[in-house]
Amino acid sequence: MEKFYLTTPIYYPSGKFHIGTAYTEVLADCINRYKRLQGYDTFFLTGTDEHGQKIESKAKEAGLNPKEYVDKQAKQAKELWEKMNINYTKYIRTTDEYHIKACQKIFEKFLAQGDIYKGEYEGWYCEPCESYFTETQLVDGKCPDCGREVKKMKEEAYFFNMKKYVDKLLKYYEDHPDFIKPAYRKTEMINNFIKPGLEDLCVTRTSFDWGIKVLSDEKHVIYVWLDALMNYLTALGYTSDDDSLFKKYWEPDVQFVGKDIARFHLIYWPIFLMALDLPLPKTIVVHNWITMKDGKMSKSKGNVIYPDDLIEKYGLDATKYFLLREVPTSSDGLFTPENFVARYNFDLCNDLSNLLNRTVSMVNKYFGGIVPEYNGIKNEVDESYEEDAKNVINEFENNMKEYEIANALQSIWTFVARTNKYIDETSPWVLAKEVEGESDKEKEEKLEKLKSTMYHLIAGLREIAILIRPVMNDTSDNILRQIGIDSKTITFDSLKEFKEIKNVKVIEKGEPIFMRLNSDEEVEYIKNLMKK
Ligand code: ME8
Ligand code: MG
Repeated sequence: MEKFYLTTPIYYPSGKFHIGTAYTEVLADCINRYKRLQGYDTFFLTGTDEHGQKIESKAKEAGLNPKEYVDKQAKQAKELWEKMNINYTKYIRTTDEYHIKACQKIFEKFLAQGDIYKGEYEGWYCEPCESYFTETQLVDGKCPDCGREVKKMKEEAYFFNMKKYVDKLLKYYEDHPDFIKPAYRKTEMINNFIKPGLEDLCVTRTSFDWGIKVLSDEKHVIYVWLDALMNYLTALGYTSDDDSLFKKYWEPDVQFVGKDIARFHLIYWPIFLMALDLPLPKTIVVHNWITMKDGKMSKSKGNVIYPDDLIEKYGLDATKYFLLREVPTSSDGLFTPENFVARYNFDLCNDLSNLLNRTVSMVNKYFGGIVPEYNGIKNEVDESYEEDAKNVINEFENNMKEYEIANALQSIWTFVARTNKYIDETSPWVLAKEVEGESDKEKEEKLEKLKSTMYHLIAGLREIAILIRPVMNDTSDNILRQIGIDSKTITFDSLKEFKEIKNVKVIEKGEPIFMRLNSDEEVEYIKNLMKK
């Protein structure tokens, strides 16, 4: 079985995760499910990034020692992922003993080979971002990443010699066009960080304790970003006695990161790997952000939406559908209560749920629930529908290959609309009607056409259920159950069997999978959630 290794960033466990934060996880989970359905042996890594000054101060605020604090927070994070049915393979915590040991070894290796050297650091430090900036990088004297206050700091520190690897990195970018998706992020890195002159990176701190100690110089702790990035290696047992997972799964097939942490993953991370002489990830996908009408989500603005609240009221599948449909990889997506309710009512209820309902009730009415077998009847309407059914698979797969999930979902919904239109085009109720004066031959022809129509609708719905499966697993199960198909046998290969459906009986009475919402009421409800 071919392997597929995918990762999300490890999260700062410094508060409750809002829908923005959950986005990376939902995106990766969708790809993981897709790859599994394709038959890959996947390894999906996530976890928490538990060291650093920010966590240390948060713990103090909460009146806990840092370890107590991160234990509590990591538990909460895991509970959320469980509620969201995130199927990760491994959860790494950077406070795990094996990670700490491996990081220390890696640091000493860099030191020994001269990639890390001792010096002195002076610069503007942003505490929430754990980042130093030079005078020129500041925007209006504030942190260029988050816009908050920065402090002038000076300390003895170790540095990683980035300059040594810059040319190699640029060459790598050039030779590997799939390395960074979308491609404009590469241009951004070159123009904003590499061309102006890449500084060596300060990789230790002495101003606080909550971090991994440098083995050979214990008053220093390893910079939280070096510590955190190593998780993608250490989780597989890199440098440990048992590195069989590392041997099997390295290198990552895809790593997902939000745009705010692109610089760390597109510049420093590949350079660290070059220094370790390891193969680089095949692809790093930088996704954009979920924003609100008034900009970034934040407690102070009173515009935060938490995934658990949406899930509780509208279900997991509707929540995931919205997130993935509304945020394309290459630009920001907007969350508004109106948008959310509209997607629910139009896409899920009108288009999908009603299609299933109409189909199940027609198969019951015309054929006692037994789905007619494919009868080879060819007419232009069926032929063109089959053609579209085939095309949507290609479109879907091409979008998934590029990790453009929003577009992949859009192509599915175009096909859902196409299937609804097919019902109008074939008008089964006309085919089913006895018309006075019709010959037996005419009746027979109409019956065959009606059979063919029902067959195509069931085959179309099965296809839709398979295509949405990586995003909406329960809805997929539900559709398949209602049309009498065993979901356990479903793989992406079964999409090729459009004409092979046999011995299938739909349930006697269809059940709506999404019920229409009262727009005004639900918009109000979500607005109140945002004020919570
Ligand atoms: O950055 N929309 O962790 P984190 C979409 N610990 N994505 C969003 C978002 C939004 N509104 N807000 C946050 C860290 N994210 C580091 C990573 S990896 C070695 C270390 C995304 O908890 C963000 O872009 O701050 C990132 O991908 C993820 O949430 C976790 O962010
Ligand atoms: Mg962040």
